[in-house]
Amino acid sequence: MCGICGYIGKNNGVGKVVEGLKILEYRGYDSCGIAYIENNKLKLVKTIEGVDELYNLTCDKSSNFVIGHTRWATHGGVSEKNAHPHISSSKKLAMVHNGIIENYRELKDKLDANYYSETDSEVFLNLIDSKSGDLLTKVIDASKEVKGTFAIIILSEDGEIVLGKRESPLYLSNVGDELYIASDILALSGENFYTLKDDEFARIKNFEISFYNKNKEKIHKKQEKIKKNEAFLENFYKTHMENEIFETKNVLLKTLKEYENEAIFSKIKLPKNLKSISLIACGTAYHASLMGAEYFKEVGIDARAYLASEFRYGRELLNKNTLYIFVSQSGETADTIAAAKLVKSHKLNTLALTNTPNSLLNRICKNVLPTFAGREIAVASTKAYSCQVWSLYLFSLYLAGKKLPSERANSNFPFINFDEKFIKEIASYKKVFFIGRDLDYITAMEASLKLKEITYINCFAIASGELKHGTLALIDKDAVVIAICTQEKIKTKLLSNLEEIKARGGKVIVVSQFDDFKDFSCVKLSKFDELFMPIVSVIPMQFLALKICELFGYNPDKPRNLAKSVTVE
Ligand code: AGP
Repeated sequence: MCGICGYIGKNNGVGKVVEGLKILEYRGYDSCGIAYIENNKLKLVKTIEGVDELYNLTCDKSSNFVIGHTRWATHGGVSEKNAHPHISSSKKLAMVHNGIIENYRELKDKLDANYYSETDSEVFLNLIDSKSGDLLTKVIDASKEVKGTFAIIILSEDGEIVLGKRESPLYLSNVGDELYIASDILALSGENFYTLKDDEFARIKNFEISFYNKNKEKIHKKQEKIKKNEAFLENFYKTHMENEIFETKNVLLKTLKEYENEAIFSKIKLPKNLKSISLIACGTAYHASLMGAEYFKEVGIDARAYLASEFRYGRELLNKNTLYIFVSQSGETADTIAAAKLVKSHKLNTLALTNTPNSLLNRICKNVLPTFAGREIAVASTKAYSCQVWSLYLFSLYLAGKKLPSERANSNFPFINFDEKFIKEIASYKKVFFIGRDLDYITAMEASLKLKEITYINCFAIASGELKHGTLALIDKDAVVIAICTQEKIKTKLLSNLEEIKARGGKVIVVSQFDDFKDFSCVKLSKFDELFMPIVSVIPMQFLALKICELFGYNPDKPRNLAKSVTVE
């Protein structure tokens, strides 16, 4: 989703900001731009052709004051005029904004300003411009009138900068006489950083930085160390997604090593009388949470997974004997963060299971259990999912007082490369279904999400036992059913389901370590402990999605309409 970068310093910041935007590309965006000062005038360069094109358009520019943005359209379509930065009606201020201004219509009606875009951000900018006083006063006064979320940088034509945030992250770093600003720590330079809390602001004047609260009082801030989250392999494969799938084995081993002496678990403050666990997450992280809930139940702890976007508006009875685990690769997902804040406001026990050391979710939750998947760039989550499942499994063993496995993840992983014919065959079907029972049903859901998000095939997952309650009506010669079976107890039942599909002309492909499915096309899995099989079986499903995506000529790292971090609710 949207990304912010800024530079104020004695050197040329144009290239530095464009480089920062390049780093933020992985979050997903549809247009980008920069604003800079040249001869005491604000200049804008924007494009819908991507950051490489922005580089071509700006490589001959130079400025000591630069702000930049990658936009993921919410209010107003994808166009240069809607791309950030925006310029105020008076042409004296430029702004980049992440977040959403919910009351922008009402504010727009009250303001006397010219508009050049359809965005809510431009309304916020003109509200700031309409206020009196110095730039800091204007920004703070305007922020009191807006409802919604924001991380903003305002650049005035005389080189003063004010930034502020509410709910959306914003960081700064100071390297010698250069200041960097970014909405993602990855795009910051240096070893240390400052973070703004909600309704805090910073002013940069004459290259000096000072911080303020919403009452315009000066506050003191300490720098924090940037924690690195290194990926394991250099980009060896064609795409980030492929690279990241191949990193799975390394990151599982790394996680096991980090958890080995259990110190990481013993730091977690559990409820005094732990009776249940609630896991709350979105998308792929929700699937990992569903799997985690099964692992906790396996060791006798009542557990349930919730979609973060539903949890907030549901009727859950919050309980002091429950541990609330928020699962998120990025630690920035708006729905998950909102749910964590809700639980925190009841002073209950929260734990962030994230892959991003300095994330917002880590700051909100009382406890943090890191996953060690390394940086995940591809929008489609692969290694991070496997790591989340693995971490939850290991945590369940710890809670049950069981020994952690030592070398389980060290054996051969089934990095199956489907042959071209098989990929083409599956891709030719109009309808794709994934089925499974118990843990395999959860893997089926994740397999289906992966396939739809990067191939745009209309597919869905269904519990095998539910087929006969309606969905069987869709099975005919245009349908392919991918059945996942890694649990001994469900083999026989699944065989009957498969016969029903075959009898209706549907094509069946079984993904299993068992030899019982000789009458069907099979993807053979290596054999591991059954509770570990969900990690083994999801890998060929991730590959299937990747290979079909490549066959269709799409870029798996940049799927349409999706962002890596979904920072809007
Ligand atoms: C994963 O392939 C998806 N792109 C998406 O469902 C993702 O898992 C979801 O948005 C949650 O993200 P998070 O783990 O960063 O919170």
